[in-house]
Amino acid sequence: MIAKIKQLLEEVETLKASNADELEALRIKYLSKKGAINDLMADFRNVAADQKKEVGMRLNDLKTKAQDKINALKDQFASQDNTACDLDLTRSAYPVKLGTRHPLTIVKNEIIDIFARLGFSIAEGPEIEDDWHVFSALNFAPEHPARDMQDTFFIEANPDVVLRTHTSSVQSRVMETAKPPIRIICPGRVYRNEAISYRAHCFFHQVEALYIDKDVSFTDLKQVLLLFAKEMFGADTKIRLRPSYFPFTEPSAEMDISCNICGGKGCPFCKHTGWVEILGCGMVDPNVLELNGIDSKVYSGYALGMGIERITNLKYQVKDLRMFSENDMRFLKEFEAAY
Ligand code: DAH
Repeated sequence: MIAKIKQLLEEVETLKASNADELEALRIKYLSKKGAINDLMADFRNVAADQKKEVGMRLNDLKTKAQDKINALKDQFASQDNTACDLDLTRSAYPVKLGTRHPLTIVKNEIIDIFARLGFSIAEGPEIEDDWHVFSALNFAPEHPARDMQDTFFIEANPDVVLRTHTSSVQSRVMETAKPPIRIICPGRVYRNEAISYRAHCFFHQVEALYIDKDVSFTDLKQVLLLFAKEMFGADTKIRLRPSYFPFTEPSAEMDISCNICGGKGCPFCKHTGWVEILGCGMVDPNVLELNGIDSKVYSGYALGMGIERITNLKYQVKDLRMFSENDMRFLKEFEAAY
């Protein structure tokens, strides 16, 4: 009996089946009522009493191993079958992580979007510019003190080549080729020779807008400014214009909005005034129109320019300008939901 059990055990351990039918045949051969193991079980009562214990243990062991083996073979077929029939070609692929848009890009797109709805189209110009487009064509006289308002990066070998200090340079680029009506918005990077700190950087971003047509008035400008402020910062936003000076606009103004962090009540961000400055603007100086080949007796226009970092700070309260260029993933990920 023990020899028979050993033999069956050897057989069971090396069982192989290449399909479900073969497996079923094996199950019947070994484990069914009329199978080899049951036959042995039936013979068990004839085993001598002193051997019953050992034979019984071996028999049980054989039965368990046979069942385990058959189950293992069954699982193997099942998993193979699964691959075949669970192949769902319509299932979507694993999601691809696309990353996030940079906060400055999010805000830039928002600004562009608001102006696009007013009929402005995008114009771009080079970051490496010449003195003419950055200064001279915008009415900065050669020794004009306003040139000192902006610390400019010059190329030593050729002081005529500069990194643009403002996107107003695109105004002159467009005016020299396009005929009015001109209605453009110019987003881009600008450079100034500033020490880098939490509130200043040697490069930052601006958006410039320019509208030139017949009979453009300060009222048109004010209306666009109000609409922009409300769209960008919410319908309750108020604006206030303060007289200012820029060489390329006359009259010129700076626009404040009611502080959207404290709602105008006063907080550290608005230095407890309730107002924060967000842009410069004005009516295009007739000199600028003439310098760029546009008849100032026929046409007038307005221009405005703002820093994208400033607007982003107001919207998202980024306290340190350097965060915008350090590519810290923890910072960038905070804007995942913002677009
Ligand atoms: N270019 C100015 C600056 O960088 C901003 C500016 C002010 C742009 C007034 C304008 C404007 O178009 O009308 O500080």
